[in-house]
Amino acid sequence: MSKPMFSVVSGAQVQQVLRGQEKRIVELVEATYRLHGGGRTVNPPSYFLRFPDRPDARIIALPASVGGESAVDGIKWISSFPANVKSGLPRASAVLILNDPVTGYPLACMESSIVSAIRTAASAALAADWLSRERGRPARVGFIGTGLIARYIHTYLAGTGFAFEEVGVHDLSAEHAAGFCGYLAGSEAKVTTYESAESLIRNSDLVVFATVAATPHVTDPEWFDHAPLVLHVSLRDLSEDVILASTNIVDDVEHCLKANTSVHLTEQLVGHRDFLSGTLCDVMAGDARFEPGRPVVFSPFGLGVLDLAVGNHVYEELRRSGELGYIEGFFHDLDRYGKS
Ligand SMILES: NC(=O)c1ccc[n+]([C@@H]2O[C@H](COP(=O)([O-])OP(=O)(O)OC[C@H]3O[C@@H](n4cnc5c(N)ncnc54)[C@H](O)[C@@H]3O)[C@@H](O)[C@H]2O)c1
Repeated sequence: MSKPMFSVVSGAQVQQVLRGQEKRIVELVEATYRLHGGGRTVNPPSYFLRFPDRPDARIIALPASVGGESAVDGIKWISSFPANVKSGLPRASAVLILNDPVTGYPLACMESSIVSAIRTAASAALAADWLSRERGRPARVGFIGTGLIARYIHTYLAGTGFAFEEVGVHDLSAEHAAGFCGYLAGSEAKVTTYESAESLIRNSDLVVFATVAATPHVTDPEWFDHAPLVLHVSLRDLSEDVILASTNIVDDVEHCLKANTSVHLTEQLVGHRDFLSGTLCDVMAGDARFEPGRPVVFSPFGLGVLDLAVGNHVYEELRRSGELGYIEGFFHDLDRYGKS
């Protein structure tokens, strides 16, 4: 057996590989959801490390295993420190460890805030595609919360063929909203800043939630009377009443009904899960229930298998192009009897 080698992959390398690959990554994410739906992955519950002295911060461990042709095991370790944003640092930082599924040896440690944002955006764009096939493509998208995740989701929607007449923007911070409008300035669409979440929602047929709200702040189902498609990426923005008035699609039922997400709060309120219509995989198989005239809400908990699939793609691309750098001597004392 050849000697195991270990690589460190920087964020610059990750970005260089993934730039302009929106369609390919959405296809990869779709294939990974299908593997997951077919039982060919292992994706245990995420483990949340929280701190009594820093209640808004957390670090989450997402161990996972992907089967199929590009099998890989590993774990994402991702911090969320919302106060970073004030000092100019992104909220989230992460590393991904890829493990060889034959030997178990770690293959690489990869900067993973970009992989994480990209798999989240690809999952959102995939859901927007499947969930708008029958109801028609949205013309007016609105973003509530305008940080890094909102920017990546917009890039992925645009990069996979969504063309909007208007992009609506709403954020509690006028500075963040203005920064996002600056990023949007190069796009074709008219950009409108809304002072309230209500006016943005009422004027959008695709609504993206990418806030850091810890508890529901959008509570009136009437704001959704025009039955928009909602990508509820930040998971905790919508009240139980809004969830109960919607068709609800999740990425994974067991994962999503945890950690006080809006669908978890709804389950605790009503004592059952009948308000869930299915997973995105069910939608792709034609097995999800839709009630006409209702808003459709996609709540993706975010699966570690997606990080592994995208991270492994980056690793393989770098390996093929000869750009993978190895750390000499990382694995040491490999002889059982100490001969080397
Ligand atoms: N489901 C998933 O798979 C997944 C993956 C990655 C990130 N996320 C979530 O996406 C969210 C956004 O991440 P980010 O890195 O862009 O964060 P960020 O801190 O960069 O941006 C969040 C923005 O939301 C704004 N905001 C907070 N509360 C608001 C409210 N009530 N109304 C309007 N705006 C509000 C903030 O001012 C900020 O501009 C986080 O909640 C994160 O946990 C989900």
